[in-house]
Order: sequence, then C-alpha cells, then structure tokens
Amino acid sequence: MREYKIASIPGDGIGKEVIPAGLAVLNALRNKCGDFKLLVETFPWGSDYYRATGRMLPEDGLDTLKNFDAIYFGAVGDPHIPDHITLWGLRLAVCQGFDQYANVRPTRILPGIASPLRNVSAGDLDWVIVRENSEGEYAGHGGRSHKGLPEEVATETAVFTRAGIARIMRFAYDLARSRPRQLLTIVTKSNAQRHGMVLWDEIAAEVGRDYPEVKTDKMLVDAVTTRMVGKPRTLDVIVATNLHADILSDLAAALAGSMGIAPTANLNPERRFPSMFEPIHGSAFDIMGKGIANPIGSFWTAVMMLQHLGEHEAADRLMTAIERVTSSRSVLTPDLGGNATTNQVTEAVCDALGGPNS
Ligand code: NAI
Ligand code: MG
Repeated sequence: MREYKIASIPGDGIGKEVIPAGLAVLNALRNKCGDFKLLVETFPWGSDYYRATGRMLPEDGLDTLKNFDAIYFGAVGDPHIPDHITLWGLRLAVCQGFDQYANVRPTRILPGIASPLRNVSAGDLDWVIVRENSEGEYAGHGGRSHKGLPEEVATETAVFTRAGIARIMRFAYDLARSRPRQLLTIVTKSNAQRHGMVLWDEIAAEVGRDYPEVKTDKMLVDAVTTRMVGKPRTLDVIVATNLHADILSDLAAALAGSMGIAPTANLNPERRFPSMFEPIHGSAFDIMGKGIANPIGSFWTAVMMLQHLGEHEAADRLMTAIERVTSSRSVLTPDLGGNATTNQVTEAVCDALGGPNS
C-alpha cells in the first residue's frame, strides 16, 4: 500500500469550504482505488490564527510542512487584515520558503461549461500557463521611506536572475514538448521594460535552442490578452513572469467559465521540498460562509496533486468524475449558472467516481 502524507491548510474564507469538500472527494476516491492511502493532517493557519497569535504561519511552520509529500491549500484573505499581510504571511512564505518556482495553471473549457466567448467550446481553449513563482515582480524587494510626509517614496523592484529565468524556461519547454501541439508562447514586455524583460527574452532564446521540436513565439503581455480572447485556439503553453501570469491566469479562468474551476500547482520540480496545490481563486469575501463556493477548482487541484504523487489512475478517475458532473449540467454552483450548493456538487462528484475498479 503506497502512503502519502498530505498537509491540508484550508486558510480563510471559502478555502474553509472548498478544501474540506476536496478532502471528502479524495476520501471517496481512496475507497474506490484501494491501493494507496492519504494520511491527511489539517493545520488551522490563516487569518484566525493571526488574530490569535500575531502570525499567519507559526515560526516552525515550514519545518513542520517539510515532512509532508504535498500541501493542499485553500486561500488566504480576510476583510479585516491587509491583503499583503495575509498573502506574504502564509502563501508566499510557503512558495518562497520551499522554492516552488514553477506555478502551473492548466485552463480548459470542461464539457458542459459555457465560455463567455462566442463560438468557443470545449476543445477550443486548452492552455497551460506557466508562471515564474519565485522572483520577478513578487520578489519582495523594495521599501518605503519618509512615511506620511509629502516626499514619501515606495519602490517595488522586479528581480530577474539568469538562474531563475533559465529554470522556468526549461520547465516550460519540457512541458510544451510533452503536449501534442508542442507550442510555447513566451510572454514578455521587453519594449518598455528594457533590462529584466530583455534578459528574459535572451535566455528564452538560449534555452529554446535545446528544444528544436517546440514551436515558439514571443508576445508582449498586452497583446497576448487580445489573442486569448480572439484566437484561443492558437495558444497552448504560455510562460510569463510572476505578475504577468498572475493576471493572465485570472483572465484564462474567466474565459473558461469561472474563477471557481481553475486549479494550480506550485511546484518544486526537483522535489527538494514539498509542492503546494491550490485552486487559483482567493477567499471570495462576497460568497464566503454561504455554502455556494464552487468546489471544482479544488477537485481539479486534487487531480494535479495526485498526478504529482504518481497516482495517475486515481487522478484520471477523479477528472472523469468532475467532467461527468459538469457535462450533465444538473448540479452546478451559481457561478456556473446553477443553483447547487458546494455540498451537492461534492456529493455528485463522489457519486460519479463509479464503483470499485470501474
Ligand atoms: P477571489 O478569487 O477571492 O474572488 C474573485 C471573484 O470570483 C469573486 O466574485 C468570487 O466570488 C468569485 N469566486 C472565486 N472563487 C470562487 C468559487 N470557488 N466559486 C464561486 N465563485 C468564486 O479574488 P478577490 O476578490 O480579488 O480577493 C479576495 C481575497 O482573496 C483577497 O484578500 C485576496 O488577497 C485573496 N486572494 C488570495 C489568493 C490565494 O490565497 N492564493 C489568490 C487570490 C486572492
Ligand atoms: Mg491571482
């Protein structure tokens, strides 16, 4: 029996609704594919923990987490705590502390889900956005001086390193090469940002020489938004900086039907540290506590976690169950035009997992 230690961190807001839903589905899946075991430990870290202790994550939090095979994370964000405190205190602390430099964000229109784009349906939009997740605009460099005075100044310095760019390019090229279309779009802004982004372009071209079979094109970030909307079929794998890909992946999720569907993996590809899996959405102040958060993003995230653990059969089975439920259209949450609750969607996906070995 293969065993995996999973650290579950629901965090804040709807994270506390969709992560338990995801664990329920994983548990049902486990009962049907009897050959592996998930040992799940749940941690109460997040904004309530911050109110009680002054920290989002305990001082020895990373030491605790490093003994796990994977981290299953919900979201952070609290209406009464500044967003930069919650994000840096927990999510970014884990991503940076565990050098999870490759943030992988698949987007596809699931069967039965309507895209807001006219004449675009399942199969027409099938992308993976690779986000540099360790440096760039979110490196944390900068500062503020003369606080409150008229001459107050703040700097937010984007940091691009040869090592950081080379490893994310290699990751993106490997991924592009493994997909049927072998197509990679390198997103940049090297017309206006003439240092970091020019280095980005140069290293992309250097790394690309090792991948002659991958078709590569290069686009400015503003232009790629219009291509995502107007010609979604022409894109496959997209690699972009931390900030650019953050924005593009929200657009991608919306074009695929809802923010509530999209999953992501924060990977340390060398496996020196555990990787972290989370739906891309935040804590969703407007719907938290209502029981109507779409749990599909957290289920698809669980699929990515199972793939990372090497449990491909279980991953495929869960993805098939998710698609059975979306394609029937009878049990969908309000963001997808339905009126089902989080629990009803969870039950429907559990039912759709099928019998033992089916
Ligand atoms: P958000 O993703 O929480 O919500 C954006 C919109 O999408 C809202 O209208 C929300 O209701 C909807 N939505 C998101 N997930 C949904 C789901 N599963 N089902 C149905 N509808 C869903 O982004 P927002 O409003 O910008 O941020 C709220 C808080 O979350 C902030 O504190 C922000 O810093 C934090 N945040 C945290 C992230 C993380 O922990 N990884 C990522 C994004 C935001
Ligand atoms: Mg985002």
